[in-house]
Amino acid sequence: MSVVIVVGAQWGDEGKGKVVDLFTERADTVVRYGGGANAGHTLVIEGKKLVTHLVPSGVCHPGKSCVLGDGMVIDPHTLLEEIADCQSRGLLMRNELLIGLGAHVILPYHKLLDGLREDRGATTGRAIGTTRRGIGPAYEAKAARKGVRMRDLEKPARVRELVAANLDEMIPLILHLGGTAPSKAEVAKWIDDALAAGDKLRPYSGDAGRHVARTIAAGKHVLFEGAQGCLLDLDHGTYPYVTSSSTIAAGACQSAGIGPTQIDTVVGITKAYATRVGEGPFPTEIKGEAGERLRIAGGEFGATTGRPRRCGWLDLPALRMGVRLSGMGSLALTKLDVLANLGEVSVCVAYKLDGKELDEPPTDPEDIARAEPVFTKFPGWTKLPSECRDVTDLPAPARAYVDTIQRMAGVPFCLVSHGPDRTETIRLIDPFAAAI
Ligand code: GDP
Ligand code: IMO
Ligand code: MG
Repeated sequence: MSVVIVVGAQWGDEGKGKVVDLFTERADTVVRYGGGANAGHTLVIEGKKLVTHLVPSGVCHPGKSCVLGDGMVIDPHTLLEEIADCQSRGLLMRNELLIGLGAHVILPYHKLLDGLREDRGATTGRAIGTTRRGIGPAYEAKAARKGVRMRDLEKPARVRELVAANLDEMIPLILHLGGTAPSKAEVAKWIDDALAAGDKLRPYSGDAGRHVARTIAAGKHVLFEGAQGCLLDLDHGTYPYVTSSSTIAAGACQSAGIGPTQIDTVVGITKAYATRVGEGPFPTEIKGEAGERLRIAGGEFGATTGRPRRCGWLDLPALRMGVRLSGMGSLALTKLDVLANLGEVSVCVAYKLDGKELDEPPTDPEDIARAEPVFTKFPGWTKLPSECRDVTDLPAPARAYVDTIQRMAGVPFCLVSHGPDRTETIRLIDPFAAAI
């Protein structure tokens, strides 16, 4: 039996979808934990692309069970669209999906509030650059103990009462932010639509926590799929420029309701460089034409919103922080191919702040903005061989880059990815088999 957590080691979009798809070969159950449709996880299988937002990225392996943990916030309409998309591809045709009844429901007013705050933030300089998917407002309602859960969708009177209570408090805020209060007819439609979606999702819904616990107790392999990345964690990320959930490995236990002693290992995913979407400090960001070249080379446009991602050099202090926060036993390095043909490659190895050298970023965002990244340069490489199955197949400068990052990150690489397809992968350690 092995229980493995896959977690983003940076600011999201590290290639978690590809890695989870690969690891699902060895798993019986894949559990998505935390967040909602702010995530966009891309799988490329034999040239065909699938982007998952809510459904776990193990979906392309028929017969494996895909669970949505209780800690998620679910937009029921997005989930139904995603299920339909999967089914049109012949996936999720059997009893493969289980939605936790404790997960919270994203309703249209959460998205409305998220968007209004971002619009206001754009004029006051306080925007977070959210995905506008209603994630923050839905988690706020949960923490205020006013949220609507998937299980509530079975009880129309309860949903009406909860929505009325939420809107009672929210309408003054909507008006304050320049929005328009929804009409009674609009609210009635929101509720009817949510209830109708709840009816369609009911056959897939159940006690996710017990299912996961039983699967582990039966000695099967369970894979947890994180969303976002450690540096977007609500408690430990670059607050306030973070998402509203626990994105570190601990979030898996919280979302699924299992104890930390059940976890065997944590695999962090990092790109060979860095990206970030939305606002917030990003000390290794490459501005101007050079940044644009990296963006184009890496296809760095959001899988959910299509926004151009900010691009920069690999930030080892930030990566070390991710390794520490999630207790990673190994790392998967992705997008090594993207750095080919870009000339010399830089890596931030430390920060300098007030005359001191730091091996992790400072915690105060103002200090992060003041800190000076210390870069080391590596000779570049022009191209990777089309068949690359082992690190010895890599050109010498790429190999030196990989070896140095591995050493400086302090944990071994379990795989190196050099293209979006399943086949474009150097496999080094099987996290389900090895004690890492
Ligand atoms: P996730 O949110 O962590 O699952 O990552 P995204 O799917 O948002 O973004 C990662 C992007 O990089 C997707 O378009 C993947 O298909 C792509 N990708 C993953 N690994 C590699 C790789 O090694 N090389 C290249 N060129 N693309 C990759
Ligand atoms: P995956 O799982 C990258 C970012 C947003 C914004 C901040 C808050 O695909 O890696 P939110 O909508 O969550 O309130 O936005 O978090 N963000 C992501 N960035 N990848 C993601 O998911 C993200 N999910 C949220 O851009 O800066
Ligand atoms: Mg993504």
